Amino acid sequence: MYTSHDEKRLYEQAKHLLKHDEATAADTITQLRDVIIYADWKYYVQSDPVLADVEYDTLYKKLKHLEEKHPALVTQDSPTQRVAQGLSERFPTVSHLVPMLSLDNTYNADDLTDWDRRCHELAETDDIEYCVEPKYDGAGISLIYNDGSLARGATRGDGVMGEDVTANIRQIKAIPLSAAFMKYGVRQIEIRGEIVIHKNVFEAFNKQRVSEGLSPLANPRNAASGTLRILDPAEVRKRGLNSILYHISDYTLKEGAHRPKELGTHYDALKFLYNLGFPTPTPDMQVFKHIDQVIKYCHEFEARRDTLPFEVDGLVIKVNDFALQDKMGATTHHPRWAVAFKFKARQATSKLRKVEFQVGRVGAITPVAKIDPVHIGGVTVTSVSLFNEDVVREKDLRIGDTVLVERAGDVIPYIVKPLTELRTGEEKEIKFPTHCPACNSELEKQPDEAAWRCININCPVQVAERIIHYVSKDAMDIRGLGAANVQKFYELGILKDIPGIYHINWDTIRGMEGFGEKSITNLQQAIEQSKNQPLYRLIFGLGIRHVGETTAKTLANAVSHIHDFYDWDVEKLSTLEDIGPKVATSVVDFFARKENKRIIDMLGDAGVNLVNDHKGQKSNDGELAGKTFLFTGTLSHFKRSDAEAIVEEKGGSILGGVSSKLNYLVVGEDAGSKLEKAKKLGTVNILTEQEFLSLVNG
Ligand code: IVH
Repeated sequence: MYTSHDEKRLYEQAKHLLKHDEATAADTITQLRDVIIYADWKYYVQSDPVLADVEYDTLYKKLKHLEEKHPALVTQDSPTQRVAQGLSERFPTVSHLVPMLSLDNTYNADDLTDWDRRCHELAETDDIEYCVEPKYDGAGISLIYNDGSLARGATRGDGVMGEDVTANIRQIKAIPLSAAFMKYGVRQIEIRGEIVIHKNVFEAFNKQRVSEGLSPLANPRNAASGTLRILDPAEVRKRGLNSILYHISDYTLKEGAHRPKELGTHYDALKFLYNLGFPTPTPDMQVFKHIDQVIKYCHEFEARRDTLPFEVDGLVIKVNDFALQDKMGATTHHPRWAVAFKFKARQATSKLRKVEFQVGRVGAITPVAKIDPVHIGGVTVTSVSLFNEDVVREKDLRIGDTVLVERAGDVIPYIVKPLTELRTGEEKEIKFPTHCPACNSELEKQPDEAAWRCININCPVQVAERIIHYVSKDAMDIRGLGAANVQKFYELGILKDIPGIYHINWDTIRGMEGFGEKSITNLQQAIEQSKNQPLYRLIFGLGIRHVGETTAKTLANAVSHIHDFYDWDVEKLSTLEDIGPKVATSVVDFFARKENKRIIDMLGDAGVNLVNDHKGQKSNDGELAGKTFLFTGTLSHFKRSDAEAIVEEKGGSILGGVSSKLNYLVVGEDAGSKLEKAKKLGTVNILTEQEFLSLVNG
């Protein structure tokens, strides 16, 4: 735990490091590490960031740069060491030191009163304190720290054996890579908790997936457990998982492997972890002396469950005193000293009446289940997306099925499964259309895609959807021209395509219901303002397949005018950060189409901004345009930052690591693993400093 004195010092240190260059490398590395670990703790554990993103990135880069220069000073718990190298083949199975038990469930006040009575019988005392904390709806994990360092992270698995997902756990910045357990004589400790994904992170992630033509993940719980088992740690890192740790295992297998003796209660144990920098339920945890207080708290907490940043499906009530816990023991399924109070299910059953097929803006056909109206978590659900054919087949859904529908928090509802035991034999197979329900063109499906697609670019539903996307908040943000109005104008022939927005015949609209002078003036203003939107919004708004908001920003930053893309090929696009061949191909295809170029020209003629006036922008016609560079080792002829600036001035770009995207690796003295990797790849041009100078000097 940081004292306010520590916090002040580290904050000052951060500001100092941002301004000044290093004294000695070793000192600076230690300081940078401390500051970054502190900033991670503030951000991920306290949800109270102390540094701006760019400040954080600057410090991180400084640390990375210094460590590259002094590889001997790199330690396993450095924040830079969260980045795993390469992909895992698969996860080895490991056995848990102590079985990971489940929890017994209660659903109401009577269940809790019964449980309280049993606790008193088993503990043989009138005096029991209960600790109450949220029941996190994520994926259970076990962490082992050896000599203060994170040694293993494993999934729950079947409770006895789990999967070793250490490389992925290291990507979760809320989880410390090291902690001062040794100070308390603890050589090994096992901590348990939950991996969760915050609701806003989940929502943004799904939005991105949908904009890339992928199906959204069903709920934050599935997203968390699925992410933990992804074989690419870099992808895990991007997903921004979080964690809460709520249990220290008690076992004595070897010397120094135990829960610290001075911890007498569960509350103390979590406070202990919290003070060592771990994310714990501490802020949402309460201790009560009587079950009636617990029951009251459970009901109050349930009423505000949606205000929490992550999903909770209940509360967990634990006997606080460890001596009593030990006395009460456990069954093979659950500890007797703990119980879950489950909140009202956000699940309900309904009847699947029919499936409609909707056409999306890029032509993907989405099956949508129409179900009998059902109330879940305060809303009436009648329509549930089934995402694509694979989902329907996997779940074996049929028309007439009774289905289990779930709506987790603010998340969109989904069908968990059909209740096959209730089938009568009358249920009918869901038939997928072979032709577009809007324009009747034949549907197509790419071998690597789940969605059937209508590829008729003039398909009326797609055109309307594209206009709706263009005006949407995250794209050109034309308020007053929402989905319903676009639909109406499109049907009436007032709006035929995206450029049509800038040539609306206002006389036809005047007098229409809901369009008084005031709203027309507002709409005209909003349309006018959209002409000055930054380029990335236009690129996003054009609805290029696989191009979400983040990719649109990357693209916009790489050019000075949208026309520049007319000359870019897949190879050049692939040099941009986070742009792989799939996105690159889609961008090239988009800008190669005559009708898209025509739309861009018409937008330009209407006065829509097509340029990127971003400062510090790279030149695209320099002699190094499209070429990628990386510097490694100690450079003696020039400063690395100067050399990087030259490359960028001449239109090239700097990559963060050796990959197939790298064209040139410039090596100084004592070059290490990067040089090895580049040699192994065989596709990278390896240059000495002299050779680099000759190259840039023509
Ligand atoms: S205590 C012996 N506390 O719920 C310790 N579990 O449905 C037993 N869970 O397997 C677990 N929040 O993955 C505990 N605050 C919390 C929890 C929690 C979520 C999970 C855990 C457990 C599952 C049982």
